[in-house]
Amino acid sequence: MSTNAARVPRHVAIIMDGNGRWAVARGKPRPEGHREGARAVREVVRGCRAAGVEYLTLYAFSLANWSRPKTEVDALMRLFVLFAKKEVEELREREISVGVIGRPEDLPATTRKALDELIRKTAGGKKMRLSLALSYSGREDLIGAVRQAAALVDRGKLRPEEIDGSWIRAHLSTGILPDPDLVIRTGGEYRLSDFLPFESVYAELHFSPLLWPDFTEKDLLAAFDTYGGRERRFGRTSEQVKKGQE
Ligand code: IPE
Ligand code: IPE
Ligand code: MG
Repeated sequence: MSTNAARVPRHVAIIMDGNGRWAVARGKPRPEGHREGARAVREVVRGCRAAGVEYLTLYAFSLANWSRPKTEVDALMRLFVLFAKKEVEELREREISVGVIGRPEDLPATTRKALDELIRKTAGGKKMRLSLALSYSGREDLIGAVRQAAALVDRGKLRPEEIDGSWIRAHLSTGILPDPDLVIRTGGEYRLSDFLPFESVYAELHFSPLLWPDFTEKDLLAAFDTYGGRERRFGRTSEQVKKGQE
């Protein structure tokens, strides 16, 4: 698979869906699928780093996922701890820093502690930023920013006319990240499930029928290839875009 280096997306965001179905199809409990999913995460992190992606954001647990059976939620929370401990050395070696978006304060103390340690130990990584979306909801994130704005206006610290797109964007939990260029969803569903709604307005979307544990580096590079062939117009005409490239 050839990947045009000039067209590798700078920020890739992935909705890793299909773990449960992967397990059920094999007669295994759903957490088994999440464990296999962690393997796919490792492969995709390596693949993105090797391809020169600067930002990788992974939807690991949505705010809505708290409504799943307790046994599954508990298994996921333990898996995040395991992931943090197992991956730290390799992430450091590859100079990848880790961050969290969403509401990490919702996570159990042991999970939070393991993630905090992972964040601290990888803080120096300058080659790629891996953001884990945990207890994440795009709408809640937006509501949080609006509340902050209202509170500042209330205290006379912000004028309503200062609240614009870039103010809101900077006050989301993705504030330090650029907008995603490519959003990938595995698992065959055609929806965003509350993932980066404000940030993805001009992202290219790639839907894969593969279940997340089956998604490999080859599939990632295939997605980059399709991305490389697309014309991003941002509202302009094709002619204007081509002129701008000359
Ligand atoms: C995505 O896989 C992982 C998480 C939501 C944590 P699912 O668990 O949603 O898998 P399916 O969609 O049920 O197959
Ligand atoms: C989206 O998958 C959330 C994650 C991948 C973490 P879901 O499986 O929760 O999404 P829906 O419920 O099918 O929309
Ligand atoms: Mg799902």
